[in-house]
Amino acid sequence: MIIMEERIQNLKNEALAQIMSAQSLEELENLRITFLGRRGELNTLTQQLRTLTPEERVTVGRMINDVKGVIENALVEQRQQLSEKREGKWFDPTIPGIKPKAGHLHLVTAAIEEISNTFEKIGFVRVRYPEVEWDWFAFESLNMPKNHPARDDWETFFVDAPPHPKYGQMVLTPHTSSGQVREMERVKRPPIRMINIAKCYRRQSDISHVPMFHQFEGLVIDEGISIVHLRGTLDYFARNFFGSNRRTRLRPYHFQFTEPSFEVDVTCGVCNGRGCKLCKSGWLELGGAGMVHPVVLKNGGIDSNKYTGFAFGWGVERTYMMKQDLNIPDIRLLYSSDLRFLRQF
Ligand code: FA5
Repeated sequence: MIIMEERIQNLKNEALAQIMSAQSLEELENLRITFLGRRGELNTLTQQLRTLTPEERVTVGRMINDVKGVIENALVEQRQQLSEKREGKWFDPTIPGIKPKAGHLHLVTAAIEEISNTFEKIGFVRVRYPEVEWDWFAFESLNMPKNHPARDDWETFFVDAPPHPKYGQMVLTPHTSSGQVREMERVKRPPIRMINIAKCYRRQSDISHVPMFHQFEGLVIDEGISIVHLRGTLDYFARNFFGSNRRTRLRPYHFQFTEPSFEVDVTCGVCNGRGCKLCKSGWLELGGAGMVHPVVLKNGGIDSNKYTGFAFGWGVERTYMMKQDLNIPDIRLLYSSDLRFLRQF
């Protein structure tokens, strides 16, 4: 009987070892036949029960039954694992991982980060103001009275919503200048050094205009701020953003909210200011700038006898295309979500 018990124990150990290392459902089925089949090993042992006394038969018979249960359970468990593996649910922590494909930032996001870093280095504070704005902040507080023809330049989207009793109609902000009076109200007492980068909306769509684009707006207000500070800031930006040999120039222009007002140009990166096919005159246009109009300061609650300031506002997309000398034939491609286009940068 002792020999029988030993054989049963050995059979159990061997069956479990083989079942656990089985690599396929077919292999597992063969093991089931080998150990539990009609002519299998456990049945052979059962037939040998005849050689034992009736008491021994009871004990060894029970042992055989227990081992049969253990082997059956092991088969069920291993079958489940192998099926999951076959269906791809199997998780083996020892297999080397699959590296996810690393993408990169969208061109415009990269530009926004670079522009904010450049201005933050000289003490500008990054802010964001609402994209859905009231007429007061977008136009009226900026010295553009109702029905003033200058408003037409902004080709605004008007929101069909009840007007605000104090601030008028709701609009999609057409420029980041709508953050000027909001920033004056937030800070209350200068100094102000704001860099407002946000989405803007205009009813425009062609190869050089998109209906949704980004602008970055600088606003500096303090005692004794003059055009010299504006020039210094613009030159700092041109050198740090475009390259150390780039210079800026101011051309007289007109905006309702700055006096005097300018268009800012930067020397062309291709010909270095000598004049080429791209720029013609050696200069590329960046955007608007000027000294903050006293009416705007007053609307922001700032004493224009004590404080002066300058502001500038440019398109992120166009400025970045200029920096990289990117010859993008249609600015709308930036927002087409076409990966074949975006992966190039
Ligand atoms: C303005 O929006 C003024 N608020 C700028 C300003 C700020 C002047 C502070 C003075 C003081 P303008 O409409 O020119 O100005 O727009 C500025 C820049 O935004 C343009 O030079 C261009 O780069 C960009 N821009 C304007 N409309 C679009 C558009 N539809 N798509 C892409 N970029 C645009």
